[in-house]
Amino acid sequence: MTDTPTSFPLPTHRPEVVEFLATRRSNLAKAMEGPGPDVATRDTLLEIAARVPDHRKLAPWRFVIFENEARSNFGQHIATAFMAANPTAPADRAIFEGARLTRAPLVVAVISSPVDCVRGTPVWEQELSSGAVCFNLCLAAQAHGYGAQWLTEWYAYDAGVNAALGLSGNERVAGYIYIGTPTLPASPRVRPEPDSLMTFWGS
Ligand SMILES: Cc1cc2nc3c(=O)[nH]c(=O)nc-3n(C[C@H](O)[C@H](O)[C@H](O)COP(=O)(O)O)c2cc1C
Repeated sequence: MTDTPTSFPLPTHRPEVVEFLATRRSNLAKAMEGPGPDVATRDTLLEIAARVPDHRKLAPWRFVIFENEARSNFGQHIATAFMAANPTAPADRAIFEGARLTRAPLVVAVISSPVDCVRGTPVWEQELSSGAVCFNLCLAAQAHGYGAQWLTEWYAYDAGVNAALGLSGNERVAGYIYIGTPTLPASPRVRPEPDSLMTFWGS
């Protein structure tokens, strides 16, 4: 898809966007409920999510969408993997694990799917681009008035769960993005002082 506008204006000061970015907070997946975005809005969110810096236009990411009963159906793979790794865990833990994706009405697994190109874009850069997709999806959801949280928890790294997800080759889960209606305002979180992050080269 090519951009619809054929030219782009120079950046202008957009105080509302600045305020949004300066005060952004994630919303807890465990404090979300329906409704989630409708189909058209969901597709808009994913289109925005894919509008990220991407060296050489490789689009080295893809989305797996979980809605409705797909969330609990996939949860059975999560529960099975958990109980296999923790055979002495109480049975109700399997129920908890199986319900993880049901915390939000929409969950999007962002899959890092790097293209193996010799002397091309390093895989590191392609994986960074996947991280940008995750965050852009969170921002897009919140700009539409939904809550969003980027989680990996343990199951993003489980081979059995990833097989059920359909990962292949060097694909990895960049994140599960939980999107829904927040039921609680976010609380303040300590942020690093910008000065503590800066050094001035040469001084
Ligand atoms: C790659 C990645 C994975 C994350 N996984 C988890 C997770 O499994 N559990 C969790 O509580 N937070 C996780 N987080 C952090 C949350 O997304 C979020 O940043 C955190 O709740 C703080 O909120 P904030 O975005 O308002 O700073 C993860 C963040 C990133 C970048």
